[in-house]
Amino acid sequence: MKELLELLEIDAPIIQAPMAGVSTPGMAAAVSNAGALGSIGVGATNAAGAQQMIATFRGLSRRSLNVNVFCHAPARPDHGRESRWLDLLRPEFERLGATPPATLKEIYRSFLEDDDMLAVLLAERPKVVSFHFGVPSRERIAALHDAGILLLACATSVAEARVLAAASVDAVVAQGYEAGGHRGVFDPEADDDRLGTFALTRLLVRETDRPVIAAGGIMDGAGIAAALSLGASAAQLGTAFVACDESQADAGYRAALASDAARHTVMTRAISGRPARSLANRFTAFGRSVDPRDVPDYPIAYDAAKALHAAGRTKGEPGFGAQWAGQGAPLSRAMPAAELVALLRRELRGE
Ligand SMILES: Cc1cc2nc3c(=O)[nH]c(=O)nc-3n(C[C@H](O)[C@H](O)[C@H](O)COP(=O)(O)O)c2cc1C
Repeated sequence: MKELLELLEIDAPIIQAPMAGVSTPGMAAAVSNAGALGSIGVGATNAAGAQQMIATFRGLSRRSLNVNVFCHAPARPDHGRESRWLDLLRPEFERLGATPPATLKEIYRSFLEDDDMLAVLLAERPKVVSFHFGVPSRERIAALHDAGILLLACATSVAEARVLAAASVDAVVAQGYEAGGHRGVFDPEADDDRLGTFALTRLLVRETDRPVIAAGGIMDGAGIAAALSLGASAAQLGTAFVACDESQADAGYRAALASDAARHTVMTRAISGRPARSLANRFTAFGRSVDPRDVPDYPIAYDAAKALHAAGRTKGEPGFGAQWAGQGAPLSRAMPAAELVALLRRELRGE
């Protein structure tokens, strides 16, 4: 098999993580033009939104692009649980002078059942498509492969990586428990061994036949070098790019990341319905007080979280945002994405 960087047509073993709601086509283009792999997260948008983002990227770069989709089991609506959840959130809304929404909905579709998204990917043929929370059917994988698209997918355990290899995914993203954002676990109800990036990367290098991309807590050239010395073919960095100029992170998120608040991150499912690592804030504090079984399915719970965040913003309270960040958050550096890639490459060369 060709080396991963050759397959991806990139110069440096660095992937800017897809970050739905945070990464942008401008960020991805700056990263790809600087020799790494830029990614866009289209998991929280629809096919038309994805098409628009791909077009914007293509207006800025002719290099490789990774388009990331969510492959979660579609949500099971449970009106009783959803209205109990809204009742639990009601005091938080009321403290902000707002009322919770009357009902909650599944705010975006899983790629597992989104034929329009598949059609856009097959028509646009980005260099890479990546999957989070699982893998689509064999038919979808075959269609994407037949279109010449390289496929990456996230694993948090050896068992998940074996499923990906059996599904013919081309390379596996080893996401450690340190990682910011949603944990890529296939089944959020199953036991989770919470493997760290170091152990998981090494296990996947030893026990699978796919190239491994290490992700979680990697913030600088030293971290990337460590991942490569564990046998990873590349490193995927998310939190490191959140403070970049091209990021969609709002002022409250950026301020928290630049402050001592970055020293505390929490894995919570209260925000979206799936476990995700966020900066400790008012929402994660609320999350500690609730029984995880009371949280509606992903992404139904996210509908309530977005409404609460919007209510908070009107009162100047940023602490109800989904401020996803990994354990390396205090090492984040604010600068244009192209400069960050150039800096990471210099650090990796030991300069
Ligand atoms: C703000 C944010 C949003 C994320 N959104 C996505 C996403 O849409 N799709 C995805 O596959 N991974 C997503 N992730 C997870 C990353 O792919 C990656 O696993 C993680 O950022 C690595 O850990 P790090 O943040 O410590 O670098 C997100 C991470 C962050 C920080």
